[in-house]
Amino acid sequence: MSEQELPDIKARQDFMGMNESDFRSLRSIQALIDQDLPKSLEKLYTQIRRTPQARAFFSSESHISQAHRAQQAHWQRIAAADFGPDYVRKVQGIGAAHARIGLEPSLYIGGYGVILDHLLRAVIDDGLKRGGLLSRITGRQAGQVADSVSALSKAVLIEIDLTVSCYLDKIEQKRLELQAEQERRAEEDRYVIDVLGKALTALANGDLVCRIDKDRIPDRLDALRQHFNRTAEKLEQSLQKISSNASDVALNAEGIRQSAEYLSQRSEQQAATQEEMSAALLQITQASVRQPMRRRKQIIWPIWCVRMPSRRARSCRTRSMPCRE
Ligand code: HEM
Repeated sequence: MSEQELPDIKARQDFMGMNESDFRSLRSIQALIDQDLPKSLEKLYTQIRRTPQARAFFSSESHISQAHRAQQAHWQRIAAADFGPDYVRKVQGIGAAHARIGLEPSLYIGGYGVILDHLLRAVIDDGLKRGGLLSRITGRQAGQVADSVSALSKAVLIEIDLTVSCYLDKIEQKRLELQAEQERRAEEDRYVIDVLGKALTALANGDLVCRIDKDRIPDRLDALRQHFNRTAEKLEQSLQKISSNASDVALNAEGIRQSAEYLSQRSEQQAATQEEMSAALLQITQASVRQPMRRRKQIIWPIWCVRMPSRRARSCRTRSMPCRE
């Protein structure tokens, strides 16, 4: 990361009124911080171990020891009031590491609370104690204690500000990435809708073999492509079945038509036969009326046998009448 991209720590210090005098105050308690830091970090990690939500961020005890050592080195830089670009870069790295593991700012800030509570008590206790580290530097103990407490508080608050800013940057970065991803997906969706729309139109226009190739649809939407292809496949098979059924129906219809024609011919023949029968009966009736009985028989039977050839033989046989052609 370039110098320009680093957060402006100077502007923050100026706003808070943190100046060289504070740096000196901090350095004046550097030995005390170095001495009490292990105890304060021990308190922090005890608190982390007994809080499941916080302990869950560590995979093992050695993971805890590693973070413990890294934090100890960092605090030594604070105690030395070493707030140059390396410090800012380090704070950014810590913020990024915590953001990466998803450590909530409330735990992070709470952790500072635990450490600050211990260090501030140590500074005040030492200042008030006769023969303490501070009492050897100057006679104005109370004022110095206040200055030290103030400088330490400012340093920690600025560090919290820097790390929270880093969190916010990470969140903003994530938001921009998500937004870009959403826009890319929306563009992809529009393209897929277009491909599907064209394929559906082709299907509607009768192109039943229309299918969508795999490389035309992104993997995340491949289910849509498979769905379309399966539907088109089934539609094609169904229409093939309907078409073959239609041919069967046409064949059956032809069979029915032929049978009907045959029946109609039979009916015509029967009608003709009936007509012949009627004509024969009429002839017989007329002949009967004009002739005596013996003569009637001689006339009727030949007419009957000529007109009704199918009955002729049977009747001739049963009645033993002579059949004349
Ligand atoms: C009190 C303020 C805290 C400071 C100053 C601090 C500082 C650090 C530092 C310097 C590192 C090493 C980062 C690197 O790899 O460069 C670190 C790592 C870590 N910290 Fe903190 N920490 C703080 C609070 C916490 C708290 C409250 C937790 C958990 C509840 C925590 C969990 C971790 C974990 C899990 C790592 C290791 C990350 C990894 O595996 O890369 N820290 N911390």
